Amino acid sequence: MNIIQVVDQNMGGEAGFAEFKTALEQGANTFGLATGSTPVTIYEQLTHSALDFSQKTSINLDEYVGLSPENPQSYHYFMQKHLFDAKPFRESFVPNGLAEDGDAEVKRYDEIIAEHPIDLQLLGLGKNGHIGFNEPGTPFDEGTHRVTLTQSTIDANARFFEDEADVPRYAYSMGIASIMKAKHIVLVAYGEAKADAVAAMIEGPVTEDVPASALQNHDNVTVIVDAAAASKL
Ligand code: GLP
Repeated sequence: MNIIQVVDQNMGGEAGFAEFKTALEQGANTFGLATGSTPVTIYEQLTHSALDFSQKTSINLDEYVGLSPENPQSYHYFMQKHLFDAKPFRESFVPNGLAEDGDAEVKRYDEIIAEHPIDLQLLGLGKNGHIGFNEPGTPFDEGTHRVTLTQSTIDANARFFEDEADVPRYAYSMGIASIMKAKHIVLVAYGEAKADAVAAMIEGPVTEDVPASALQNHDNVTVIVDAAAASKL
């Protein structure tokens, strides 16, 4: 893994932006995108840049079950607001949180991923080592699936909702097998709360207990961290 230590989240935004720029220069067509607070500064850099994604494809990692694209807590909404409104792609895919048939939605999403091999996959990191919504214990060979969120993730994401009870209990997530097929993976983590997960991801055993540890088996991973997130390495 190539580890880039940055001073703060703004510099991380610049470092992440540079990865997108290089990928575009190298002819990347499909970008795997992430939500959460971590990628926001990268998206700021992208929206204020001259980079053109209008002929490119984006595929998001995950979406809450039960939230519509118009719901401000949905990942659809997040992506519109932080990136797509200012920087549209030719086509952008996000799992459909309102799908009536969950099995069909999972299959549909896997087909989309198979048709659009991901050149650059952006990832945040959960405090418990999750990537996308692949919680600890998720088999590494799984594709898109419906996830029951752990209490740790519900607690962590409650800050975006008025009430903890409003946080959805289920989500759709791209699987670790799909993430691992991306040509280049850029994982970003900031703050002390991520330090244990960062250390386990990079230096711990490769185990399904720490989903991000799967990345040790990928040959092109860039990790962008600040000093606090890197403090237990
Ligand atoms: C959520 C998302 C993840 C994200 C994680 C960390 O659970 N599904 O994709 O990486 O939160 O979020 P944050 O960047 O806000 O710390």
